[in-house]
Amino acid sequence: MKRIAVFTSGGDAPGMNAAIRAVVRCAWANGLEVIGIRRGYQGMIEGDFVPLGPRDVANTLQRGGTILLTARSKEFMLPEGRAKAAENLKKAGIDGVIAIGGNGTYAGAAKLMVEHQIPVVGAPGTIDNDLYGTDYTIGFDTAVNTALEAIDRIRDTAASHSRVFFIEVMGRHAGFIALEVGIAGGAEVIVIPEIPTDARACAQIINKSAEKGKRSSIVVVAEGGYDGGAEQLARDVQQYSGFEGRVTVLGHIQRGGSPTAKDRVLASRLGAACVEALLGGASGVAIGEVKGEICFTSFAEAIEKRKEVDRKKYQLAAVLSL
Ligand code: F6P
Repeated sequence: MKRIAVFTSGGDAPGMNAAIRAVVRCAWANGLEVIGIRRGYQGMIEGDFVPLGPRDVANTLQRGGTILLTARSKEFMLPEGRAKAAENLKKAGIDGVIAIGGNGTYAGAAKLMVEHQIPVVGAPGTIDNDLYGTDYTIGFDTAVNTALEAIDRIRDTAASHSRVFFIEVMGRHAGFIALEVGIAGGAEVIVIPEIPTDARACAQIINKSAEKGKRSSIVVVAEGGYDGGAEQLARDVQQYSGFEGRVTVLGHIQRGGSPTAKDRVLASRLGAACVEALLGGASGVAIGEVKGEICFTSFAEAIEKRKEVDRKKYQLAAVLSL
């Protein structure tokens, strides 16, 4: 193996740059050349390649976003798109590829490997933390801390005005961010896709909280936790509780920003492990960290298996908000 490529794909996540930096520097330490593919699979199809040396990744560790840019490519979903991408990789003399992204990124990587026999390994880069085979994904910790800071601020105003706030956090299919910030921010209710909650039950909790003397309530809602999101939930809850809630949708604010120390270290470890994995002859695996140890999970398993939210954490949140 002489030359490897690295790319980021899907939603950007804080810490992706730390992972790219680790890939580049560990590869060079092992005598490998590195090509950066810009704009994910779309850039692979269009041959948007840049050589990356150790100095090219200087001063990127602390930056959010991804220096390699990202995209969600429709063309790559077609066999013709993947064939074009594979041809470009072969023409550029690339012997192995490191894919940094979420579930869709792994699915594309698996196809590239099976259809075109290109060695590919993956690192989990998504704020959602919804990937099987790793305790945490790159970007999750930063997103949680960003959302938490916003929730703390909203709590100040909620308490001052004796108001109910519905705060929507990211997570179309998963409630990891909502659960984590819900506990850390002392939310009265947490609404996540994995554990359906109806507006009546939510209103009951808010009413009880008020009866117990609470001056404010915070409801953390994952994007996909309620049909119509936090806006709709606030409207529906109002029918049963009489409280006129205020709604804040945190949105993409959670995706950007400087990565936390935890994300930088995780990304650095995983980036390095990807290079070592390719050098060791691995392919078709997602590299993760489980209980502090680097571990490999086949793409097939990582894509198919669902990482479960910790239901004990969910129950704990309810007890702590009494
Ligand atoms: O997967 C990361 C994520 O931020 C999800 O939490 C969210 O549902 C989605 O991406 C939003 O995607 P986009 O930025 O393409 O609208």
